[in-house]
Amino acid sequence: MRKAVYPGSFDPVTFGHLDIIERSARMSDHLIIGVLNNNSKTPLFSAEERVNMLKSLTNDFPNVEVKAFGGLLVDFVRANEADAVIRGLRAVTDFEYELQIAQINRVMAPEVDTVFLTTNLKYSYLSSSIVKEIASYDGDLSAFVPAGIAELVKKKMEDRKK
Ligand code: PNS
Repeated sequence: MRKAVYPGSFDPVTFGHLDIIERSARMSDHLIIGVLNNNSKTPLFSAEERVNMLKSLTNDFPNVEVKAFGGLLVDFVRANEADAVIRGLRAVTDFEYELQIAQINRVMAPEVDTVFLTTNLKYSYLSSSIVKEIASYDGDLSAFVPAGIAELVKKKMEDRKK
């Protein structure tokens, strides 16, 4: 792939996301991580915070860029002149939703392909929602997110309780 977009909420970024980022960065000349900035969702972290987290984790990847986007994914892909969208598939339960979105995106932007990467089995159970759930009960996040992200999640949860 020449230029690919890996979109997501990344609220927060997990080891599962990082696995997909590493692999898709190897498969593309240039990878743009698109962080959804959606006013109708109430994320734990602002789009700016999520972009900064991803930037610090991908500093060593010369062909990876991180940007926030709002609106339709296909408009973001076109604005960045990318030719593919990357999505991770954890289990068959992801497939129905992902296929529907990929088909809709293909109708709106036939020149853009969606490429599915199967998640590393190690992370097939993992999601940002699960991470937030565990953090809300003060559980150990070390198997799910990098140490720096775990600290930020815990701090955010504590601030919310105040
Ligand atoms: O990490 P997520 O929350 O599963 O990512 C979902 C994302 C950001 C890929 C999806 O919600 C998205 O593309 N949103 C932008 C709006 C859009 O284009 N929707 C698809 C066509 S209806």
